[in-house]
Amino acid sequence: MKAFVIKAGSTSFDGLVQRELPKPAPGAGEILVEMRAASLNFRDLLVPLGRYFGGPVPIDLIALSDGAGEVVALGNGVSRFKVGDRICGTFFRNYVDGPPAAVDRPALGSPVDGVLAEYVVFNERDAVHMPANLTYIEAATLPCAGVTAWHGLMVAGRQIKPGDTVLVLGTGGVSLQALQLAKAAGAKVLVTSSDDTKLERARLLGASGLINYKKTPEWSTEVLSLTNGRGADCVIEVGGAGTLKQSMLSLAHAGKVAMIGVLSGFQGDTNPHAMMLKGGSLHGIFVGNRTMFEQMNRAIEANDIHPVVDKVFSFSQTVEAFHYLQSQAHFGKVVLTMGLEAGGK
Ligand SMILES: NC(=O)c1ccc[n+]([C@@H]2O[C@H](COP(=O)([O-])OP(=O)(O)OC[C@H]3O[C@@H](n4cnc5c(N)ncnc54)[C@H](OP(=O)(O)O)[C@@H]3O)[C@@H](O)[C@H]2O)c1
Repeated sequence: MKAFVIKAGSTSFDGLVQRELPKPAPGAGEILVEMRAASLNFRDLLVPLGRYFGGPVPIDLIALSDGAGEVVALGNGVSRFKVGDRICGTFFRNYVDGPPAAVDRPALGSPVDGVLAEYVVFNERDAVHMPANLTYIEAATLPCAGVTAWHGLMVAGRQIKPGDTVLVLGTGGVSLQALQLAKAAGAKVLVTSSDDTKLERARLLGASGLINYKKTPEWSTEVLSLTNGRGADCVIEVGGAGTLKQSMLSLAHAGKVAMIGVLSGFQGDTNPHAMMLKGGSLHGIFVGNRTMFEQMNRAIEANDIHPVVDKVFSFSQTVEAFHYLQSQAHFGKVVLTMGLEAGGK
């Protein structure tokens, strides 16, 4: 079968190569999935660049954590799935519920093999049924970006309620999934972006407050102005140290910062004084568990939410897709298809 592999020691996208690998077979409790689509996350850029946790990968590794496909064979004893089911793998192996277990729960795409292959074997414990309203291309965006957004909004700290204000930073994968889920929950959503055209697209998705963070570097003032001084009940904080000060200043009383990303780098003002004055809280998020994924999928179906897919590339265009994500020209998600024409189901 065809797969895209990150070569051991890779420090550039040159280390991302197509390989012919043996087709895997499902063992007891496992399902064989013919993959139809896979999506890229910011972390997927860091792995071949040798800048993800632990530095360059020590072994050849199949790329990407997030994918969707069809179950084509079952190992002995499988009870959660049948042949023909449309599934997504979970981001972590062996993480079903509750707080992170002390036991091993490695993430796909690093440190264990990912999903950018024609066939992938999953333990049946590590997969969920796709939301019935989604195509494979749409569902492939959920395992990391979707679950992370859901965790930040609905699980960490106080759950978002109708009438709350949610602030999402930028218009990448996590932020737009958060925008859609927060809107469905009845929240008012504010969005920041470096690009006015993207802000206009966010308005069409239901965002009611639009802030250009390049033109307004002290954007917390805009957040307060757009909320009559009240601030945001939840900030989906994908920027990290470089944006945290503004996020804390943007909070409503007892609001929460869902601490997710590092897009602005590792330098910045992380003095928590503003958080103290607001009675706020800060929650570290590391994707989430299978139970969160299943809860989110019910919300996606019930509200007929369709994740925003900016651009679809074919499997053979994988390296091009990585460069495109890196350019940050995208709005929402970048997806690769396997065995599907772009735009296919
Ligand atoms: N902790 C976790 O479990 C977890 C899970 C998923 C992702 N993450 C992290 O979350 C971040 C976002 O991931 P992603 O996959 O959604 O990324 P992405 O799709 O690549 O998002 C890129 C977009 O982020 C925006 N951005 C870049 N720098 C920014 C800044 N300084 N301030 C505000 N927005 C900025 C830009 O939007 P505009 O073009 O609109 O300006 C850019 O297009 C990454 O750091 C990723 O590692 C963490």
